[in-house]
Amino acid sequence: MIKFSDMDKRIVLKNLNDTEMFGRELAEGLVPGSVVAMTGDLGTGKTTLAKAVAKGLGVKEELSSPTFTVVREYRSGRLPLYHFDVYRVYDPDELFELGFDEYIHGNGVCLIEWADLIEDLLPAERVDVKISFGENEDERTVELKC
Ligand SMILES: Nc1ncnc2c1ncn2[C@@H]1O[C@H](COP(=O)(O)OP(=O)(O)O)[C@@H](O)[C@H]1O
Ligand SMILES: [Mg+2]
Repeated sequence: MIKFSDMDKRIVLKNLNDTEMFGRELAEGLVPGSVVAMTGDLGTGKTTLAKAVAKGLGVKEELSSPTFTVVREYRSGRLPLYHFDVYRVYDPDELFELGFDEYIHGNGVCLIEWADLIEDLLPAERVDVKISFGENEDERTVELKC
């Protein structure tokens, strides 16, 4: 299991299956109030990873993209899951109006896509997952920090 303390690790995900396994492993270590800040260019796999984490948490519904709604909530898993996509958030006030603080300090797990865009609003205690494209089509590199 991934230990969420003082970690700074680079992981190569060779294919979708590796990403799926990584997401499930990540899910095992999540506790109420965990915040996973996902960063990476379009198409690197933030949503794909979020789906794997959701499966790992036992979420029964299929995740759908929160791009236009900013956040979607899923309550069928081991912990409530709040899946954010902040790509279209231009103003921090918009997030506060959605109750961002309550989500971050709540009893669920926050998975945030494009987290680097709201870096100043993120709690210091969080898991950073930075995804980059790898050497071939299905390969990705993850920098994991917590
Ligand atoms: N190892 C991998 N991990 C994650 N996604 C992968 C991988 N290999 C190929 N892909 C593909 O890359 C795309 C990632 O898209 P998506 O998860 O929507 O990215 P993002 O949310 O970062 O924009 C998907 O089409 C997925 O099938
Ligand atoms: Mg996405």
